[in-house]
This record gives sequence, structure tokens and C-alpha cells, in this order.
Amino acid sequence: MTQFQTILFGGDYNPEQWTKEIWQEDMRLFDLAHINSTTINVFSWATIQPSENEYDFEQLDEIVNMLVERDYKIVFATSTAALPAWLCRRYPEVTRTDFEGRHHHFSHRHNACPNSPVFQYYAKKLAGKLAERYGHLDNVVCWHISNEYGGECYCDNCAKAFRVWLKAKYGTIEAVNKAWNMQFWGHTLYDWDEIVLPNVLGEAIGTEKTAFAGLSLDYRRFMSDSILQNFKDERDAIREFDSKTPVTTNLMGTYKPLDYFKFAKEMDIVSWDNYPAYNTPASFTAMTHDLMRGLKAGQPFMLMEQTPSQQNWQPYNSLKKPGQMRSMSYQAMAHGADTVQFFQLRRSVGGCEKFHGAVIDHVGHEHTRVFREVSQLGVELARLGDQFLGARTPAKVGIIFDWPNYWGLEYASGPTTDLKYVDQIHHYYKELYRRQIDVDMVSLEQDFSQYDLLIAPCLYMVNQEQTRKIEDFVRKGGHFVTTMMSGIVDETDNVHLGGYPGPLKDVLGIWVEEFDALPPEYRENVQFKSGERAKAQLLCDVIHLNDAQALAYYDSQEFYNSYPVVTQNHFENGNAYYVGTMLDEVGLSALFDIILGTLGIESRVLPDGLELKTRRKGDKTYQFLINHTAQKISCDLALTGYDLLSQKQIENITEIPAFDVKIIVQ
Ligand code: GLA
Ligand code: ZN
Repeated sequence: MTQFQTILFGGDYNPEQWTKEIWQEDMRLFDLAHINSTTINVFSWATIQPSENEYDFEQLDEIVNMLVERDYKIVFATSTAALPAWLCRRYPEVTRTDFEGRHHHFSHRHNACPNSPVFQYYAKKLAGKLAERYGHLDNVVCWHISNEYGGECYCDNCAKAFRVWLKAKYGTIEAVNKAWNMQFWGHTLYDWDEIVLPNVLGEAIGTEKTAFAGLSLDYRRFMSDSILQNFKDERDAIREFDSKTPVTTNLMGTYKPLDYFKFAKEMDIVSWDNYPAYNTPASFTAMTHDLMRGLKAGQPFMLMEQTPSQQNWQPYNSLKKPGQMRSMSYQAMAHGADTVQFFQLRRSVGGCEKFHGAVIDHVGHEHTRVFREVSQLGVELARLGDQFLGARTPAKVGIIFDWPNYWGLEYASGPTTDLKYVDQIHHYYKELYRRQIDVDMVSLEQDFSQYDLLIAPCLYMVNQEQTRKIEDFVRKGGHFVTTMMSGIVDETDNVHLGGYPGPLKDVLGIWVEEFDALPPEYRENVQFKSGERAKAQLLCDVIHLNDAQALAYYDSQEFYNSYPVVTQNHFENGNAYYVGTMLDEVGLSALFDIILGTLGIESRVLPDGLELKTRRKGDKTYQFLINHTAQKISCDLALTGYDLLSQKQIENITEIPAFDVKIIVQ
């Protein structure tokens, strides 16, 4: 479904921080930059509600009128991500209590307690008032609730709400004890009020680990649900006055605390803020875009924020090089973005974001490199029109991403501190990226039938129903790959007894007896039957074959020398593969040569730095070819079609200039 008529091009705009003379200048500059949309009212709660019983929309009316007169599309934020001073002063409960038990004061943002009835009441009320006043305007094309939801609260209101949440989930305190295995270290609970929240002075082991993962996991689920409820409350308040404008909230990629698959179910369109660091690999950004597209099973998303030049909050805020903002914008579109929006349109004069890049810089005029690049992109996007809006990615390969697994794996004490969920996902993604294969990021709930190959790195936490779904997928001819640290626990982190990988043993045709953690500098040799010699790192599983066959063995000084390390099991019409370690690139390449060869999925390895991705709409195929480097790249690429950007027919590509892009349509 196409949500917008054109590619929205614009971004966060804060006229309330400026004089009206500057507003007029902004209008002139936006036109010059070919901006067609603005995101407004992101942090204006204190302005539009100066006190408890007083709303004042005079300035906002003026801003909206100015934008409507010039026919800008408006992404309308609800302003609830930063609390007004009067609210915090009168009702201290609205701000959060942190993991250290410290109650926070007024003076920041993203700090509301999601379970504060006062916060809930006023946030809902404000969202409703905005929708009532502005929801009828055709220019309002999207509602943007709050801003970058995140974090946690550990206050008394949250504790009360957590107990209610637990009662609904478990019914009895005995069931809680069982789920969290509270016999461990003699922690049996007899009363709901004995449940204490995760806390640095409680069950915590440092800031990352926990003595009772069942409790910590349930608290994460509860917190994610609580914040999602804030979103739903505001959305529903908007819906009372505006039944059709799409509603979103801006997400943050692989952000850990919130289960974005659950969020996406409640959102009309996914939007996200892309802030790679100077050294973030292009494959990681690609993966994150794919994850954001995957949240609504392939539906295009909004690139709600990116910087036109630099950030201010990273340790090293390098500039995007000439041409790089454009190439990164097209990378987002190549992966399913239907908008290109910036934080921010005008660089602020004070506050901690004064060094954050913007379309209009502190110098104030249009004669800057960044402005010129934005404006050139604006011209191109206007020319592209709506032709690939709504286009889909034709992926046959899926990688499973799951927030409870992310949480569970990283709460586990042992076997190695270096095991990180997102790194493991990216490790596999990168190999497919190198082969220029389109990939979907897939939830455990989604229908798997459209995929030929499903990869589930570190599927640590799995239940019987998910196992049946995986077995069914393989039974019907699917290929399934999973790895070390899979099938280990149930949803409250209790181990599936009877050998690892628990319920996945049947489909994989193996059992794992032990796993050895390798210190960072250690590697083991892996010998593939197909001839390749690879390296293993991080963990080495000790694997026994049941019905499976080995594809590779350890060649090692260790007692598990000659044991299988990569296995394949024919399971009815499909195949299930197990990788009992973290393979290096040679190993992954050998494995995927085997798997993709059987499936007939074509790999197209290009020189490093190039990315080729596909979107489809109707009978048209759009191939995005991007050079992510500051050097020209020579290649020999047979791609025929019309390049929408150079507006030329292309036969064969032999060279791509630094940061250049082609969109070839067939
Ligand atoms: C986030 C926020 C913005 C701004 C930018 C700066 O994405 O949503 O308000 O702070 O970061 O990079
Ligand atoms: Zn709270």
C-alpha cells in the first residue's frame, strides 16, 4: 500500500525556537531546497500547554497556517516526549525512577514514567486536542506520536502495574515461582507484594546480567508493553477526531528495550531514525533498514530522521562526505523507505544539539555544501515522483529477529561475554549482503511460506509452537539454518531438558552435549568436506549426530577434534542445518555455497563497497546500485535498463563514481 502521494522530503522543524522573521526566511530556503514536508510540534508541550488547565494554540496555529498556505505536507507530532516543568513540579510521579532507584527530576526528555496515571491522562488529552484542532487538514499526512520511545522506569507505580500484569499472565504466585525457578538460591515468593522490580541493588549482576532472568525478562516484556500502551492511548485519542491519517512513532532500528514487532502491529506505518556512526558498515545499515521493513512484513517505511551532515551525540561526529547523504538516502529507499526526512531543517542556536547537522546551518544562508546537496537531492526526488512508492522487496531468504531472544540471550550469565545477539544476526546478514541477495527480517510469528531459506542465528529461546512452525516449514521443503546457543530455554529462561538444542533436536537431527567458550584470541580449525578450511571462534559446540550428516568437522588439538561442527539434516522435503560455532567468512561462504547452490538462489559478488538491491512494483523492477565509498569503483556488471537518475539507457556498468547511485528500471 502506498501511504503518500509523493516522496516526503523534509524533516524536523522547530520554528518555535526562532523569530517570525526567521520563519519567513525558512520558507524561502525550504523552497530552494525542494522540501515538501515538515515534521512539527515534536517538543512543544510546554508551549501549547502553559499550565494544567490552559492550552494555547496561537503560535502553533500560525505555524500550521504558514505551512498550509505553502502547501507543505505536515508530519504532526504530539509533543509528549518532553514533559513541561509545571507538570513535573506539581506531580513528581510523572518522571522516572531508574535502575539505581533514583527518581529523576525535570530537565530532560524521554523521561516519563509510562505507568504514571497523571502522565497518561495529560498525554492522551493533548494528543486528542491536537487531533481535534488539526486532524481535518489535508496537509496533515501523518501523526507522529511522542518521539523515540525508550528506556525503563522502576518506580512504585510501575511496581504496582507489574504485579497486575503478572497476575494476568500467571494467575497464582506459585506459577510465578515456577516460571522464574525461584527455588534457585531459595527465593520462593509467597505474596504478590514480595515481588521486587529488577534493581542494581537486587538481582542484578552488573548492569547487563541478572540472577533471575525469568523476572528480568518479564519486566522487559512488561515495560515494552507499558510504553506501547502509551502509544496506543495517544493513537486512540487521535482516532476519536481523525479516523484516517496514518499514525506512527519513530523507532530506532535494533534498539533493545522495545519489542518493535509488537509496536508495528499498532502502527499504521513504520518510521525510523537512521544514525550510523562513521564506522558503521553499510551492511549493518542495510540490515537495519530491512528490519524496519520487516516489522510490518515488508510494508515500506518512513526514513523519519537522518542527519544531512553530522550528529552531535556520538563520540566522533564525522561529516557525511560530499555525495554520502545522497547515497545513504537512496540506500534507505533501496530497502523500502518511501520518505527521506532529516533531523533537522534548521540548526539550533543553543542546547546540546547545537552542533547537530541541519539543512540550514548556523551561517543561515543557502550557500553551503550541505544545503546544495540537499537541494540537488530534492530536485531528483521530485523528478522520481511516486513511481516506486509502495514497491516491495522480492526476498526469498529470511533472517529471524526476535526481541525476547535478544533479551534472553544477553541476560544469560555465560557461556561467553562476547556473545551479542545483533552481532550474530549481522554476521549472517553480512554474508548474504556480500552476495547481493535480498533479505527479509522476519518475526517468529510471521508466515514463513514465502521463503526458500530461513536463518535463525542464536534462536536461544524457543517454544513448542515455534518449533512446530519451523518443522512444518522444513517438512514442506524449506531450508532452515540455526546455530550455537539455539533451542536452549523456554520463554521464562528455563532450560529445555534432555539435551541441546532442546525441541529443535528432531528437525536438526543432532544433539549437543557441551559448548566450549573460546577466549577472544583463540581459533579452532574447521575442515569442510567440500574442501574449504575455515576457522571457528567464540563457542565450539560438542555435537552428536542422530539423523544428520556432518558438512564440516573440527580439526583441533581439543578433545572434540573430528567432531562435527556444521551439520545438515534431511527432514522430509526440506533441510535443516546447524552451525555449532561462529564461523569465519571462509566457513560461512562455504556453507552458503552449499545451501544456495541447492536452492538455485543466485549470488552476485561485486567489488567491496557496492550494493545492489531490488524493489518491485507491478511489472516493474527497480534495481538500486550504490557505491558506498569515497572512491570510484571499477566493475563489470551486466545490468540493462533505464537509469532514472542519470536518465540514460544502461547496458553494462564498468565504473561507478564515488558515492554514486543508479536506479535501473526494467
Ligand atoms: C533523535 C531524536 C531527535 C534528535 C536526533 C539527533 O533521533 O529523535 O530529536 O535528538 O536524535 O540525532
Ligand atoms: Zn514508573
